[in-house]
Amino acid sequence: STIDWDPEDAEKGGYEQYMLKEITEQPRALRKCLRGRVDEEAEQVSLDLELERESVDRIHLLACGSSYHAALYGAQLFRARGIPAQTFLASEYGDRALAGDTPLVIGVTQSGETADTLGALRAAQAAGAETLTITNTVGSSAARECDHALFVRAGPEIGVAATKTFANQQTALHLLALWLGGGDADPSHIAALRAIPEQVQSILDDDSAREVAAELVDSAAYFFIGRGPQHPIALEGALKLKEISYEHAEGFAAGELKHGPIALVTTETPIIAMVTGDDERARKTVGNVKEVQARGAPVVAVTDGKANVEQYAQHVLSVPETEPEIAALLANVQLQLLAYWIARDMGRPIDKPRNLAKSVTVE
Ligand code: G6P
Repeated sequence: STIDWDPEDAEKGGYEQYMLKEITEQPRALRKCLRGRVDEEAEQVSLDLELERESVDRIHLLACGSSYHAALYGAQLFRARGIPAQTFLASEYGDRALAGDTPLVIGVTQSGETADTLGALRAAQAAGAETLTITNTVGSSAARECDHALFVRAGPEIGVAATKTFANQQTALHLLALWLGGGDADPSHIAALRAIPEQVQSILDDDSAREVAAELVDSAAYFFIGRGPQHPIALEGALKLKEISYEHAEGFAAGELKHGPIALVTTETPIIAMVTGDDERARKTVGNVKEVQARGAPVVAVTDGKANVEQYAQHVLSVPETEPEIAALLANVQLQLLAYWIARDMGRPIDKPRNLAKSVTVE
């Protein structure tokens, strides 16, 4: 007898799809991203970049797709450390870019080959800006053409939907923000960074997203809300879901809900709310959750339990406690799993969604 042997199946290492394999690989990928870059004893971040940190007084981030959401997240990290930072969709960068002193221009691109991002980076270079790419691909056009490259070290990603590369982009941006901010971080922040891989593992060991997906599948639309670092995660969670399930999903800043999107909220539209920590932001998002719950929308709270949002939620996806900026990385892992299981329940071709390409090399 013969055994049918499909080399692709072998590479999937027993997983049905690359996407699930790559979600599961995140603890390892994150460890690689952190390795040698975080010195616990010296409480310092060190990056192998020949960039004059002192010369960086403002930053533009350019990206597309999921990388744009990572860039939005990264801009918040830079601003929190006193470095003015703005994010642009690469395809919209155009001539808005370089008035006055040229900023450090950072292109965030998994593949390093996205035409829109390369085009914007080239325009920035032509205007005299120093450029840096945050990429997963050594030897890519972005890595070759930019003045500096920070590699996210996620390993190859085959699934069209970005998962482990997004988490590693977030982590690389975090390291860069700390490094540009002087390299010193308080010891608890360094410890929180180093705890990311095992905290992600604890989320992967939790089956809740699969159960919640089974309850939500067949909804009319899915809305994701978050504030601060969780806002880009709301955008990314919605993008992931629409890419692989073809369901209508949108991400909103939680505060914007009342300025329009709440008109769409019904008993058929689950609201996935990121509520981590118990600060002012979390309290305000709990307020938004109450508003949608009063209108009968099923609420999924992605929470560490600190803001007592559970009482207003039909479903809870738990994340471990950590620093607010890192909570946004952990929440995203629950959203990856939620998107995956909804798409899986619907029988979608998860690794190769219709009309999408892993790397888009036309403008
Ligand atoms: C494509 C992919 C997305 C990705 C985007 C940017 O549209 O389908 O998953 O986020 O390109 O890719 P990049 O390689 O520049 O991060």
